[in-house]
Amino acid sequence: MTDSSPTRSAVSAAAPAWRPRILAFLCNWCSYAGADLAGVSRLQYPANIRVIRVPCSGRVNPMFILRALQQGLDGVLISGCHPGDCHYLTGNYYARRRFLMLRQLLEFCGIEEGRVQFSWVSASEGQKFAEVIRDVTERVRELGPATRMVKHAWDLPENLEEILPEASATGCSCGASSHDH
Ligand code: FES
Repeated sequence: MTDSSPTRSAVSAAAPAWRPRILAFLCNWCSYAGADLAGVSRLQYPANIRVIRVPCSGRVNPMFILRALQQGLDGVLISGCHPGDCHYLTGNYYARRRFLMLRQLLEFCGIEEGRVQFSWVSASEGQKFAEVIRDVTERVRELGPATRMVKHAWDLPENLEEILPEASATGCSCGASSHDH
């Protein structure tokens, strides 16, 4: 039986043509603003990321990440405010704890460690945002295309909220809503 899916070595041979598709969940108050600053500052970083702005990194349900992998994204980044800076006080601590648990589940499912990554980027760290995106892209590129959980390898819709409609809903799943703050 032959396997027609691209292997890591095939990807390496074909590189640098292949560019991973990466979904980034950015918290509105820090990382999204950091991305904005990187753009305004005209910093160079790979253009292969698609962004979903979330109110807080604590809003990112692990199911969103699993669904993104099922939808054919090659990598996922979750980025929020630094510890102690969360607009909702503890949302990023929830996010970090969930991420650590999810990482074990992903490892159990055979998903490589670098496919889902987590970072802290503040609103003033445009440079760091660009570096994070470069690092994430490079790590995922080395891993090659995701094949493990993919259910739908179709072209992604322009508006990613179509596949993750609940992701950008207001409020943080730590229990606080934006109206409480
Ligand atoms: Fe940025 Fe909570 S508001 S991580």
